[in-house]
Amino acid sequence: MGLFDDVGALAGQVVLVTGAGNGVGRAAALLAASRGATVLCVDRDEASMLETVGLIETAGRGVAHYRIAEITSEADISRAIDQLVSLAGGTLDAVLHVAGIMRGQRVPLSELTLDTWTEVIVTNLTGAFLVSKYALAKMDPQRVGVVVLVASRSGITVPSGSLAYGASKGGIHGYAMSLEKQLSNTSIRVHTVCPGDVDTPLMRKSLEDALDNGADPAEIAKIRQSLGTAEEIASVLVHLIDPAAWGFSGTVMAG
Ligand SMILES: NC(=O)c1ccc[n+]([C@@H]2O[C@H](COP(=O)([O-])OP(=O)(O)OC[C@H]3O[C@@H](n4cnc5c(N)ncnc54)[C@H](O)[C@@H]3O)[C@@H](O)[C@H]2O)c1
Repeated sequence: MGLFDDVGALAGQVVLVTGAGNGVGRAAALLAASRGATVLCVDRDEASMLETVGLIETAGRGVAHYRIAEITSEADISRAIDQLVSLAGGTLDAVLHVAGIMRGQRVPLSELTLDTWTEVIVTNLTGAFLVSKYALAKMDPQRVGVVVLVASRSGITVPSGSLAYGASKGGIHGYAMSLEKQLSNTSIRVHTVCPGDVDTPLMRKSLEDALDNGADPAEIAKIRQSLGTAEEIASVLVHLIDPAAWGFSGTVMAG
């Protein structure tokens, strides 16, 4: 058993996971629950959220509560976090903010609409702001706490095929660094996690869009063969909220 493999490592911890209905968020919710956490799941997709919660209940380790919420709505997300944290006893130890979207793959600037730009920026960047704002309001600055915002390598260390996506993920990185500085006199850490390409519903749709917008099929086939798994990224996210990871800080490249 390795340093981070202890099944009870997150016992007693309350962990908020956004985007828990699919892909990386679902894998993170399942893994955190399997380590003994009480997992507070948020997603706007009710059917997939219920599946995630069902999987946690069937596994019989950890506890899951959920709320359907739109992360771009201040009223929605503040209410969901408030209700979920109350259900869990009033405290929140960690946040895995995973929810995000990809739109505008391989669309040239001249054809990129303001609607697409705004949808991506508001979901990915404003969503990170709103989730962290209302989650941090429930965290005790004197207790060890962790906020993890999922960005991407795209827009940070490599270009994105989507101008809006690259801008939004670069924005999350800048926001997280600044938030970390603002919280430097507390016991709460802030990380940005930057995954590579992972096989999830988001990535599958993105590759279809790229083909529709004229991408080279051989290039897309190569990407499909090299995708990582949601579980690999989830293991990094859950490592970061493990009490044994107290020495980590800042931006983490994953996958
Ligand atoms: N898949 C990849 O290759 C990859 C690579 C780098 C970064 N990421 C990032 O990882 C995160 C998870 O991606 P994924 O691939 O698991 O995506 P996914 O589409 O499989 O899952 C995302 C989940 O977020 C939810 N969601 C999206 N917008 C929402 C909103 N406005 N309100 C509430 N819930 C919302 C969706 O319903 C879905 O359940 C995203 O932030 C994505 O940008 C993914």
